[in-house]
Amino acid sequence: PTTEIPERPALPFLGHALSVPKGADGLLHLMREAKELGPVYRLRVFGTSYVLVGGLDLVAELADESRFRKNVHPDLVEIRRIAGDGLFTAFPDEPNWRKAHDVLMPAFSLGAMRGYHATMLDAARSLTDKWDRADGAPVDVPGDMTRLTFDTIGLCGFGHDFASLRRETAHPFVAAMSRALAFTQAKGESVPGTERFRRKRAAEFRADAALMAGLVDEVIRKRRASGDTRTDDLLGRMLHTRDAVTGEPLDDLNIRHQVITFLIAGHETTSGALSFALYHLTKHPEVLARAQREVDTLWGDTDTPEPAYGDIGKLTYLRQVLDESLRLWPTAPAFAVEPREDTVIGGRYPVRRGETLMVLTPALHRDSAWGDNVELFDPDRFTPERTAARPVHLFKPFGSGERACIGRQFALHEATLLLGLLVHRYRLIDHTDYRLRIHQSLTIKPEAFALRLARRTSGE
Ligand code: HEM
Repeated sequence: PTTEIPERPALPFLGHALSVPKGADGLLHLMREAKELGPVYRLRVFGTSYVLVGGLDLVAELADESRFRKNVHPDLVEIRRIAGDGLFTAFPDEPNWRKAHDVLMPAFSLGAMRGYHATMLDAARSLTDKWDRADGAPVDVPGDMTRLTFDTIGLCGFGHDFASLRRETAHPFVAAMSRALAFTQAKGESVPGTERFRRKRAAEFRADAALMAGLVDEVIRKRRASGDTRTDDLLGRMLHTRDAVTGEPLDDLNIRHQVITFLIAGHETTSGALSFALYHLTKHPEVLARAQREVDTLWGDTDTPEPAYGDIGKLTYLRQVLDESLRLWPTAPAFAVEPREDTVIGGRYPVRRGETLMVLTPALHRDSAWGDNVELFDPDRFTPERTAARPVHLFKPFGSGERACIGRQFALHEATLLLGLLVHRYRLIDHTDYRLRIHQSLTIKPEAFALRLARRTSGE
């Protein structure tokens, strides 16, 4: 026998819209509801209905790619206005998805990270230079992490230096991108039919989208004009490799969409992960001390270590710290799939073909299968033995299946390298006795998190 998916009483037209707070409180609200209503519940926001899923058994069921595929839900459809048919926002049956996926996969393999390592290290050094110059004054952790990850993807992906760490205000591209993403987000949260009251914002959005497209087209044009045919970065691969199936390269509009996609997807998520990791290291001195012992073993007390590519794989405890940070606060906190046909999930809940089933990752990451103290930050959950013993679908910070994150290795290499350098170099001083607040846009990060830093002296 089937039964309806649980939901709160809904108002006509509004659905549950009034009960969902905006911004970060929205995510916390959805997590609370997953606790109270169960691992699956329905949420209606104006005309749109979402099924939210937070429990291990259901997430494991939804990972079956013969029954489910990625769902490009209304928020992603909005983002298509800037990222078009780029990898992240492509509809499942759009031919350019498979084409770009095949062309780009080799550029994201673990081996490909060897080619990005030196550039990532340069960008990391720009950050430590900046933090050295702060000379003990407070630094804006999420702000600087975002500058770093943006510069890194610009340099590694497209050979373009946005130099965010060396400028006072945000790069014009970043400012335009943040405004444009906020606009698409706000549109999803507002009452349908009220667009005409936001004409000015809509005009600003068009201008921002045009600025981003123009800047990216210029990077592409310059590379073409230079006659440089290297294929060892993302842009080079897209310009100069042909897809094996069609024998064609990607078209210029699609390349623009991919570049914008990588700039969006490739930096906020990683910077949030780094910021949460630093937050947890600050609050857990015993974990920080262990991480420092790990880097000291590799790099001793040299003033400027020269981490080799191979060192990153040796920083296994720091990887555990990152994984545990991504467990508690997966910085892309949801991903959606849709049934390929009408079906029943969990043995009793009917769902329709094409409807949005949204996996709420922070809820999954607090499933009772993690043990009793799910809120406790404990990197030892990610020892090789415990990882091997855990159900595979219990940890999904990078999504699922063929539409999972293509940039996972890139993010982990970059983040492990940077965290290693930071804990090797600095003592982290929590001068405000910071209390975690979540800032949410498309991704999540700690709100207004500042630290003071002091150089470590040997033995500290
Ligand atoms: C997809 C998370 C870093 C590029 C995704 C998805 C998640 C995710 C959950 C699946 C989205 C969905 O199913 O709708 C993360 C996290 C990161 C990170 C937590 C950092 C800690 C990166 C980086 C890049 C990147 C560094 C690029 C350099 C992408 C792209 C997709 C994607 C292109 C779409 C893939 C496809 O559908 O073919 N990411 N990501 N991500 N990510 Fe990441």
